[in-house]
Amino acid sequence: MGGNEEPDWWNRTRYRVYAPVYDLVAKPLERGRERALDALGPEPGDRLLLVGCGTGADLAYLPDGVEVAAIDVTPAMVRRTEERAAELGIDVDARVADARSLPFADDSFDAEVLHLVLAVVPEPRRVVAEVARVLAPGGRVSVFDKFLSADADPSLPRRALNPVARVLFSDLNRRLEPLLDGAGLDVETRTSVLGGLYTVAIVRPTDER
Ligand SMILES: C[S@@+](CC[C@H](N)C(=O)[O-])C[C@H]1O[C@@H](n2cnc3c(N)ncnc32)[C@H](O)[C@@H]1O
Repeated sequence: MGGNEEPDWWNRTRYRVYAPVYDLVAKPLERGRERALDALGPEPGDRLLLVGCGTGADLAYLPDGVEVAAIDVTPAMVRRTEERAAELGIDVDARVADARSLPFADDSFDAEVLHLVLAVVPEPRRVVAEVARVLAPGGRVSVFDKFLSADADPSLPRRALNPVARVLFSDLNRRLEPLLDGAGLDVETRTSVLGGLYTVAIVRPTDER
């Protein structure tokens, strides 16, 4: 965390409570996760970062030989990622850290995974700026989340539910493109998944597209 800033207290608190049941609740999203990692296409030798790794569900879809680092603000989630990595026989550098201030040098990763995180974090633009900073030239990012499309206004139910959803679950009304603006990243491909409720996007540095 930069300076004297507190880590993301609310997410840390609620995800400590959610950690034991997370895999069960998130199971219906596995198909979207698989699509996203398929589109990212991690390769042996890639340095890959899981941002907000949760229970490490993404690890099951990585090929052998990927060098994996993972961060999450919730210690209970990092422990679950470590347990899953051990079960799968994968070496993972898993750390407790806030995605708004990633503990890595510039250009450290060839691939990054931002799954179900941008709708949850309190300052998503800051997270995207950090993701861009640690992404190496030629790198790419997989984003999987529920976003409004660039030109859609939130429906009445989405607007009505959002104040509660934002606190307990995640923000229903974020758009991806404005979050990337100013970070030097752009959407390369965007696909609707899970009945159009979720988006899978591959994002790359703007000057490489
Ligand atoms: C909905 S879960 C997604 C977990 C995982 N990426 C997945 O695809 O299943 C959101 C995760 O983001 C983590 N998180 C929330 N705020 C964070 C922050 N500021 N920095 C790092 N991780 C954060 C939570 O602890 C939680 O594990």
